[in-house]
Amino acid sequence: MPIQRVRSKWAKTNSLLKSTELTEYIPETKRWSKNTLQAMLDAYKMVYVKPDSGTFGSGVIRVEKRANEYYSFQMGTRKREFHSFDAMAHQLQQTIRPQSYLIQRGIQLLRHANRRFDIRVMVQKNNHNHWESTGIIGRLSHPAKIVTNYHSGGTPMSMEQLMSGKLSASQLSAYHFRLKKLGVSVAKQLQSQYPRLKEIGIDVAVDSSFKPWILEVNTLPDPFIFRKLRDKSVFRKIHRYCVLYGRFKRKRH
Ligand SMILES: Nc1ncnc2c1ncn2[C@@H]1O[C@H](COP(=O)(O)OP(=O)(O)OP(=O)(O)O)[C@@H](O)[C@H]1O
Ligand SMILES: [Mg+2]
Repeated sequence: MPIQRVRSKWAKTNSLLKSTELTEYIPETKRWSKNTLQAMLDAYKMVYVKPDSGTFGSGVIRVEKRANEYYSFQMGTRKREFHSFDAMAHQLQQTIRPQSYLIQRGIQLLRHANRRFDIRVMVQKNNHNHWESTGIIGRLSHPAKIVTNYHSGGTPMSMEQLMSGKLSASQLSAYHFRLKKLGVSVAKQLQSQYPRLKEIGIDVAVDSSFKPWILEVNTLPDPFIFRKLRDKSVFRKIHRYCVLYGRFKRKRH
């Protein structure tokens, strides 16, 4: 049986929302509509508009309501400004494919050296067929961009490096533990709907009060990003599990 992949962010988000334990970690997410955009901008001031099944951060747009008649949106490095909601929404609608786009409450990501970062949590089936969080790594955005993806100029970096100025060593290790636990809960919940999953990569945003938010779950997570960690045992384990469930062939010696 092939490893299960689920492309739709909408489907995965709804699956997670069925867990009462997880709902508090999920930023409000809706299908695109102009009215929904207006309501969510009024409520949150900043939202992300993104394709339901996008990858690499492409097509992801950050939309802001700065003041009553001052709106902006940014895709890539280009920011556009507008003096009315209608003008902004009209332009935005020209830019996207509305039927396949979602709107998500925007989280103000923590910053390091004035660049935003988020956290990737890798969760895999281990040799006992149990879910295990095998890797955690931070992703620092390109300074001019609104996404943190490696393919969009983001830089992978250890979570310790990114957060050591903000949390003490013991707080950091507690946070590590907390994210690992969250990772396993997410995997178990998704597996109840998608039984052939073997691996997931969770994009976690951390806000200024250190609350983790689940931005999305990837079912074809990039294992190689973990080669950037100084601790080589992390990637070795990730790779070993990938071989176990058949994503990679065992190396011949
Ligand atoms: N609601 C949000 N609040 C803040 N930042 C966000 C939000 N949604 C997305 N981002 C930023 O944009 C990046 C890309 O978004 P997302 O992961 O949802 O799509 P994707 O990367 O295209 O999908 P994939 O990870 O499958 O390649 C995130 O890693 C994060 O840095
Ligand atoms: Mg992503």
